Amino acid sequence: MRVSKQELFHLIKQKLIKAGLNEGAAHDVSDVLTFADHRGIHSHGAVRVEYYAERIAKGGITANPNYTFEQTGPASAVFSGDNGPGHQAAKQAMEKAIEMAKNSGVAVVGMKNISHSGALGYFVEMAAEQDMVALSMCQSDPMVVPFGGTEPYFGTNPIAFSAPSADERMITFDMATTVQAWGKVLDARSKNESIPETWAVDAAGKPTTNARDVHALVPIAGPKGYGLMMMVDILSGSLLGVPHGVHVSSMYQDLTKGRDLGQIHIVINPAYFTDLTAFKQQISTMLDELKAQPAAEGYGEIYYPGERGKLRSAKYDKEGIEIVDDIYNYLVSGDVHYNRYHGKNRFAE
Ligand code: NAI
Repeated sequence: MRVSKQELFHLIKQKLIKAGLNEGAAHDVSDVLTFADHRGIHSHGAVRVEYYAERIAKGGITANPNYTFEQTGPASAVFSGDNGPGHQAAKQAMEKAIEMAKNSGVAVVGMKNISHSGALGYFVEMAAEQDMVALSMCQSDPMVVPFGGTEPYFGTNPIAFSAPSADERMITFDMATTVQAWGKVLDARSKNESIPETWAVDAAGKPTTNARDVHALVPIAGPKGYGLMMMVDILSGSLLGVPHGVHVSSMYQDLTKGRDLGQIHIVINPAYFTDLTAFKQQISTMLDELKAQPAAEGYGEIYYPGERGKLRSAKYDKEGIEIVDDIYNYLVSGDVHYNRYHGKNRFAE
């Protein structure tokens, strides 16, 4: 099924309102989810609406959150999310961070007691659109073995980075710190396909190609990804006094309770470090140089981070955004949710 960006935004927003979320929050959550599908990040778009709707309806996402924002130093602040939707909390916290960085050069805003916030690229791009450089990182529920281990300890703890250029392009690097998302394993299971041995391990901690034997995901680049996901967990968890590592709440176990997750935005105002125009020009030059690099056999061309998402958006603007039929049918139905997520394990099984 193909839908326009506007229709998708409207359908998601209405469903979230029907689940009980207030209109402003429904608007912000829908904007982040629509952004994800529009960029082709379908793992973090409309596919998540039913889960959010169930969690809102069961009280595990506060429908009318009472956010608080405390500036704790010249360039630091803590945003308390009241376990409302993480998308809205992260958006509001980024707005605050950008305002602070205009005056202080740097702003570090931590969010605590928030719910899942989706695709982090959305938030860092808010900063790049205002000539800032930004990083965002957050915790997620444990499903990844520490390097060499057998049991999950950290989450897929994503890192996003964005920087402006002198033209309409911007860099948006946005990734989970795992080799592959759980959704890809599920996809292989449903098709009875094997998976590359680099994606996941079985219960003994051995790499597996059998999608049905997967016990946990693995960090990118072995011990290096393991170190990165630890760094993300410390910066977005321990630094904010919320649970760490294996203690991070499960996405599906209990949908009646808030998740108490943490996230951090770091915004840097280039104008405090160098000449802003020259900085943006240098980014444009870098992108030009990268685009002019010869591609290895089988690659066609070199892309810069975020470029393929923008190309997908341009295609979707012409053809409509591709949405799985079942998801579209749910969105247009009168149903709030089908009671499918509460009590499931870390893999929603
Ligand atoms: P991915 O593997 O699709 O892309 C990672 C990065 O690589 C992107 O910046 C992309 O632009 C770049 N890239 C991909 N192909 C490229 C190519 N051929 N040339 C140059 N650059 C290329 O992303 P991943 O790891 O699957 O993450 C998807 C989303 O999931 C992200 O938006 C992330 O924030 C989100 N996420 C959110 C979590 C949460 O708890 N809120 C947890 C984990 C992920």
